[in-house]
Amino acid sequence: MTTALITGASSGLGAEFARQLAAQGHALVLVARDRARLEKLAAELRSRTGVEVEVLPADLTDEAQLAAVVDRVGDPARPVGILVNNAGIGLLHDFDRTPLEDEIKHVRLHVEAPLSLCHAAIRAMSARNEGRIINVASVAAFVPRGSYSAAKAWMLAFSRWANLHYKRRGIIVTALCPGFVHTEFHSRMGMTTKFIPPFLWLRAERVVREGLVDNLRGKGVSIPSRRYKAVVLLSRVLPGRLLQGPQRRPRR
Ligand SMILES: NC(=O)c1ccc[n+]([C@@H]2O[C@H](COP(=O)([O-])OP(=O)(O)OC[C@H]3O[C@@H](n4cnc5c(N)ncnc54)[C@H](OP(=O)(O)O)[C@@H]3O)[C@@H](O)[C@H]2O)c1
Repeated sequence: MTTALITGASSGLGAEFARQLAAQGHALVLVARDRARLEKLAAELRSRTGVEVEVLPADLTDEAQLAAVVDRVGDPARPVGILVNNAGIGLLHDFDRTPLEDEIKHVRLHVEAPLSLCHAAIRAMSARNEGRIINVASVAAFVPRGSYSAAKAWMLAFSRWANLHYKRRGIIVTALCPGFVHTEFHSRMGMTTKFIPPFLWLRAERVVREGLVDNLRGKGVSIPSRRYKAVVLLSRVLPGRLLQGPQRRPRR
């Protein structure tokens, strides 16, 4: 068993990655901003599974705090065998209505942080000729849906390429592309989910389980559920205007 470093581990998909990887016997490094939530999860996992759990609080949009996590990923004395780039946020309003600083933080979190962590991880993993990386993208990467889609499309393109390129050095890189998942993602951005039909929702447990299996199978892209595989197939033939999805609306 190896050590897995998970970003955005304080809730949602990240916490579920922590639970499933701990259940498999992996030691963990949990990264997010909320130290108290990370400590609580760490205590739960230590007592339930007996694995070692390290807590590394960091705001990944902050240069110095990101650098500390990059150092941890690249530390040869404490190798990280599995990296899960999962931390993410949504933006409620259209691009032109969102303050530029929020858009820049958004791109730092979704592109700069995973790029920096992948860089450190791939260097360290190359030296050992083994490693696994899961980049949590989204089905949004396949459709035109604001700067969120653009950022996730970067993650998808990067993971596809890195998987092909580094497989020969024993490193698997998978872009995990879920549709709507029950987490805190939508409530944190203040978005109503009333208009999203129930059949479009996935459970975090299933998304993470399928993502881990696809990563172990060496896949560059993982799309949990047949529903969303069909959405991705349709995205190749339907015109962009039909693929934009429902307008994001605030909660009342
Ligand atoms: N839920 C969905 O429908 C859905 C669909 C497709 C893709 N995704 C993607 O799934 C990933 C996980 O999101 P989720 O659905 O699990 O949402 P979530 O429950 O809101 O979790 C987001 C996580 O990211 C962390 N985070 C946010 N900003 C951060 C920052 N600046 N620095 C470090 N950590 C930060 C949060 O922790 P702290 O607040 O403690 O920092 C939290 O642990 C995201 O990349 C999201 O884009 C979600």
